[in-house]
Amino acid sequence: MDLIVVDHDWIPFLQEEILRAFPQARFDASSNTLLKVDGISIAADTRLAFARQLLPNAIPIEAKSVKSWAEAITTATIDALAESNPQWVFHLEPRYGEGKAGRNRCDLIRKAIDEILRKKRRSMVRNRIEPPSAFDPGHALVQCILTDPENGWLSVLPAPHPYELRALVAPFPLGFIPIAEDKTVPSRAFSKLVEAELRLGFPIQKGDQCVDLGASPGSWSAIALRRGAKVTAIDRSPLRADLMNHRKMAFVTGDAFKYEPSKPVDWLLCDVIAAPQRSMDLLLNWLRNGFTRHFVLTIKFKGTEDYPLLAPFAREALSFCKDFRLSRLCANKNEVCAFGTGKA
Ligand SMILES: C[S@@+](CC[C@H](N)C(=O)[O-])C[C@H]1O[C@@H](n2cnc3c(N)ncnc32)[C@H](O)[C@@H]1O
Repeated sequence: MDLIVVDHDWIPFLQEEILRAFPQARFDASSNTLLKVDGISIAADTRLAFARQLLPNAIPIEAKSVKSWAEAITTATIDALAESNPQWVFHLEPRYGEGKAGRNRCDLIRKAIDEILRKKRRSMVRNRIEPPSAFDPGHALVQCILTDPENGWLSVLPAPHPYELRALVAPFPLGFIPIAEDKTVPSRAFSKLVEAELRLGFPIQKGDQCVDLGASPGSWSAIALRRGAKVTAIDRSPLRADLMNHRKMAFVTGDAFKYEPSKPVDWLLCDVIAAPQRSMDLLLNWLRNGFTRHFVLTIKFKGTEDYPLLAPFAREALSFCKDFRLSRLCANKNEVCAFGTGKA
């Protein structure tokens, strides 16, 4: 059984997305943000844009006390990980109540786990690491969610699976990234680019060449310039004046769908407002032609009827990519973000 963390109100769309890939899937939505799924086999090439975080092979835990929680978690963790003794990341999150009670209980469980491990497997205490910016093939992941003080779910994922499943398993607890705030950039849209960078595990680098399609008023460009990149921005409308005058900015008045770079660039950034299939085709064209190394592209929906376009798009994009992510970001509304790194 797999458990998937989902944003409020998105369970029906995730269910439809799963059924398109796995018609035999069976569901049990026990809460409005946790979906239990049976009968599917999630693999490295599975993309589920509406899943926030996957807990593969989750088992239910019933534990009356802090001590029994700690024992259940350590037993399962030692059984799965002690032999290979990898670096491991531990997420322990309450998913009940509004106050601090759940978090306090998790803190107590964490302390009790440390005590048990110090006695039984000291090396596993040393090998537990803070969540990294990105998983590498040596990392294991243990995820535990308390759905009430005495019940919850546990998923232990040995290395290299967190890395292999990185499109669905994030190093951030519950897959959640707070929406960034910054009043100095011209629009709130910048939070999507910042979140995509965090999910990839690396930002735009100094000296990178970026093309920003549909760039106005300019918050994505502003982030790229702040990182020290050079930007070619394409829009029908100009960007904010300070960005237009930036020495590393080249602005082109024109059609984002007609623009092609004269030589490959480091980043395609595209937040253009267009029909979903047009944006998807634009990215596929850039990837097919090796026009860019990395990419972040927003797919904007009106209503829900175009969501089925995502699956064939993901299949094709995967064939051109070393790393292809498709996710409705925490900062997205009725949008999905495609980001990653091409093969070329
Ligand atoms: C959501 S805004 C982009 C916001 C931008 N990412 C930011 O952070 O400020 C979408 C932009 O796409 C531009 N746009 C829409 N269709 C376009 C096209 N065919 N060619 C160029 N720009 C286009 C619009 O003018 C608009 O400025």
